[in-house]
Amino acid sequence: MEIEFVAADAALAEKTALAVVVFEGDVLAGAAGELDKTAGGALSRAIAGSRFTGGKGQVLDVLGADAKAARLVLVGAGKAEAFDDIAIEHAAGAAYHAVKTSGLTTLRLQLPNSDDAKAARAGLGLRLAAYRFDIYRTKEPAEKKPSVVKAQIVAGKPDAALNAFPPLAALADGIAFTRDLVSEPPNVLYPEEFARRVKALESLGLEVEILGEAEMAKLGMGSLLGVGQGSVRDSQLAIIKWYGAADKSAQPVAFVGKGVCFDTGGISIKPADGMEDMKWDMGGAGAVAGLMHVLAGRKAKVNAIGILGLVENMPDGNAQRPGDVVTSMSGQTIEIINTDAEGRLVLADAVWYCQERFKPKFMVDLATLTGAIIIALGNDYAGLFSNNDELSGNLLAASTAEAEPLWRLPLPAQYDKNIDSMIADVKNTGGRPGGSITAALFIQRFVNNVPWAHLDIASTAWKKPSSIPTSPDGATGYGVRLLNRMVQDKYEG
Ligand code: BES
Ligand code: MN
Ligand code: ZN
Repeated sequence: MEIEFVAADAALAEKTALAVVVFEGDVLAGAAGELDKTAGGALSRAIAGSRFTGGKGQVLDVLGADAKAARLVLVGAGKAEAFDDIAIEHAAGAAYHAVKTSGLTTLRLQLPNSDDAKAARAGLGLRLAAYRFDIYRTKEPAEKKPSVVKAQIVAGKPDAALNAFPPLAALADGIAFTRDLVSEPPNVLYPEEFARRVKALESLGLEVEILGEAEMAKLGMGSLLGVGQGSVRDSQLAIIKWYGAADKSAQPVAFVGKGVCFDTGGISIKPADGMEDMKWDMGGAGAVAGLMHVLAGRKAKVNAIGILGLVENMPDGNAQRPGDVVTSMSGQTIEIINTDAEGRLVLADAVWYCQERFKPKFMVDLATLTGAIIIALGNDYAGLFSNNDELSGNLLAASTAEAEPLWRLPLPAQYDKNIDSMIADVKNTGGRPGGSITAALFIQRFVNNVPWAHLDIASTAWKKPSSIPTSPDGATGYGVRLLNRMVQDKYEG
């Protein structure tokens, strides 16, 4: 979707739909009222003949009202006092959905006020809402394909809005990168292919190193390698580096992602029903890759490291067994109780490698780690676990600002014994009670005196049906905005 910023009086091209965003209770104030006058009261009549009140998400299609626009839609934005950045994005998204398959090619978006920063925000909303993953459709009927390919957002000072847009466009690009990775089928996106796509990000100015199985074996990553051992696909570790701070040797911030490109459960195999969902078990790695894409795209003034543990968890004659004991890079031995608790095994080595090599300021891992987090928090909130209150506070503040809900859960020392093994240092499951907590406690055993947070995003990486206009069904890109915001607000400059 091409985004332009235009003045209110810019001429309307042919095949343009005009969407006017209005406030609840004050529908005909501002631009909508002017249009109503020139249209001889057509808007008032349409409103009188409908239940449109300007409430959030409401849309009223007024065909033939405006002599210049091919179509006019009113988009409710809810109460004026609640019209924050997120409400703007949602209103822009609702406007797009109202006209995307109308046959028209351009959307002119008129916001209730002429704040240029808000116009730029609307651009972000449109870019996120217009995301589609359609590369595998060969027979989609033309009328189902979006016809709107260009948006013109009205701004008081179009140049100022355009100047404010690049960091938001970078955010949209990074989120789209994550959504693409998460949406790809597992026969296409296996560890080496994921690594190739990440390597290609070097064109943005990132440095990317890829380690294969032989290199990881040399490092002693028996925990990660054990997970991939039943797969014909080679496991990979991707290391993405962005040195954007004035001092290139300043301590970096670090992000680690679980990248299980497909999770069958391994020998502890999952039931068939819904197993196709396990293609998005690389959502944590996808979010970290998308975040690094954003940081490079907007030339963030920070040094940041992204580490992706990329594996495929398959049952096979060579697969790891329940009962096996593996030795992690940290030296700790791990008894495998359930081969389906594989994400934590990948993270054990990825997290250890990250802190040993980069000595980061903090380390945040993202992982579609447990089904239990969905039971605990439902499908909107991700779980936060951390050994550090300041880092947690920063994450929670960014979560609120970006409307990516996050809820902190405890890491109780008294539950830690649930993952003690009879014969090894630790075992990889702690039973069903508090399953997300014992999974986090497992990762914590591989964290060495560094501020660390773990985001369990099994609940939020994929959503069907979607509940917000800026995130189509399927891959959400959860985590990218949240972490980008935290970096921007707290760790740059
Ligand atoms: N990838 C799954 C967790 C998951 C479940 C992600 C549903 C997204 C949606 C993870 O590897 C897993 O299988 N976890 C097990 C852990 C158990 C064996 C201790 C689970 O949650 O059942
Ligand atoms: Mn699993
Ligand atoms: Zn998994």
